[in-house]
Amino acid sequence: MRRHWVVSLALVLLLFAAKLALEAAGEIVICNYEKFRLFDSMYRPRTDNFCVFNDVYLGADVKGADFLASSLDYKRVAFANSKFPQVPPSLFKNFDDIRELYVRRCSLETLRVTRLLERVYAGGNRIAAVQLDGNASNSLRELYLDGNRLQGLANLTHLPALEVLVLENNPLLGDVDFAQFARMERLWKLDLERVGMSRISNRLQRPLPELRRLDLSNNALTYVHVRMFRTFPALEHLWLHGNRLYYLEADQVRTLMPAVRSIVIDDNPWGCGHLAALGKALRDRGIVIRHGECRTERAVQRVCCSDETDVVDTRYLLELDIRRDGRFQQDVRELRADNEVLRRELERVRRQLGELVVNLTRPATAHLVEAVDGPPSSEQQNSAAASDEEYEEGSVE
Ligand SMILES: *[C@@H]1O[C@H](CO)[C@@H](O)[C@H](O)[C@H]1NC(C)=O
Ligand SMILES: *[C@@H]1O[C@H](CO)[C@@H](O)[C@H](O)[C@H]1NC(C)=O
Ligand SMILES: *[C@@H]1O[C@H](CO)[C@@H](O)[C@H](O)[C@H]1NC(C)=O
Repeated sequence: MRRHWVVSLALVLLLFAAKLALEAAGEIVICNYEKFRLFDSMYRPRTDNFCVFNDVYLGADVKGADFLASSLDYKRVAFANSKFPQVPPSLFKNFDDIRELYVRRCSLETLRVTRLLERVYAGGNRIAAVQLDGNASNSLRELYLDGNRLQGLANLTHLPALEVLVLENNPLLGDVDFAQFARMERLWKLDLERVGMSRISNRLQRPLPELRRLDLSNNALTYVHVRMFRTFPALEHLWLHGNRLYYLEADQVRTLMPAVRSIVIDDNPWGCGHLAALGKALRDRGIVIRHGECRTERAVQRVCCSDETDVVDTRYLLELDIRRDGRFQQDVRELRADNEVLRRELERVRRQLGELVVNLTRPATAHLVEAVDGPPSSEQQNSAAASDEEYEEGSVE
């Protein structure tokens, strides 16, 4: 009996020691260079050569694994059927030239974005924190973070090369101010579907000149003034379905959204009266209302609406009246802000103009000084002297 117990204990100890040895040595994981299928920014299937790691399972201590490949200069790395709370640091150490990283559905909790990464597919995880090396990236062009647990975008503002940002289905994100995207001057696609937004604000100081696709669907927006979109002069497609909208200023759409081609508006509590007017106004301006299928009886252009038109219309009229005061003050504030931006712009142009005048007179001086052949006319002498004076004043400054 006693002997049996000793043997069991020895066996347990032996197994434990073996496990320790294995962990200390570090598991070596090798990827397979293969054609990998994924979807691009327009949801088109795409196949490309990736080095693919399969079945990588790691616990909280992700440092145990060492990632290798037959060649370490692969630029695209993917994980399939894998699970770890963060991408093991040794991956970035061994593959120091990764440009594309595919880590969809890996149970990630934090995401690190290294300097050279250009595309990161990190949807379907549990990401609550994103860390950018150096708090910024000049390389990152496409970032997919759909289906995660982000609560804020504070770490995602310094991304000047970003073109595509997909934040769909991060229900903890909440209200968003478009000013958070101010530095993303090349952004053409912004997906904010199902992020738990109940109101949008826009304190952008400069327009986002490239933004063409904006998805705000399936949130809890009750009222969105089209003025909110005035900073997106290239906006072509806007998704607003699945909100709580019942009113939209159709008459201002064309002036505030000059490039808009389609607006998706179904699945909102429209009153049929307003919807009919809205639909006509948009169509008259060449804007397509895209719709789902309305299965209830009351619909305008296949967009569902409520038969209690009057009730709804009265409700928005009442609400507008109540808001009018606030709106007026908001208008004044926005005009003041715009005015301030214009004033600063003017100041900048004025300074540039001053510089330009100095620059223009400078070569003239050099030319005149060089042109010693022949007696200069008194007029030329005068202007040369004047320029010299200016030049000296300029260089003293
Ligand atoms: C933001 O970045 C910092 C520094 O990299 C990091 O410590 C923090 O966890 C990040 N926070 C979020 C919410 O992503
Ligand atoms: C990045 O931001 C965090 C706070 O978010 C800060 O503590 C850290 O010093 C910053 N790092 C760099 C390199 O700027
Ligand atoms: C004026 O010249 C300086 C130096 O040659 C140059 O840096 C600057 O951009 C010029 N300014 C303008 C407005 O052309």
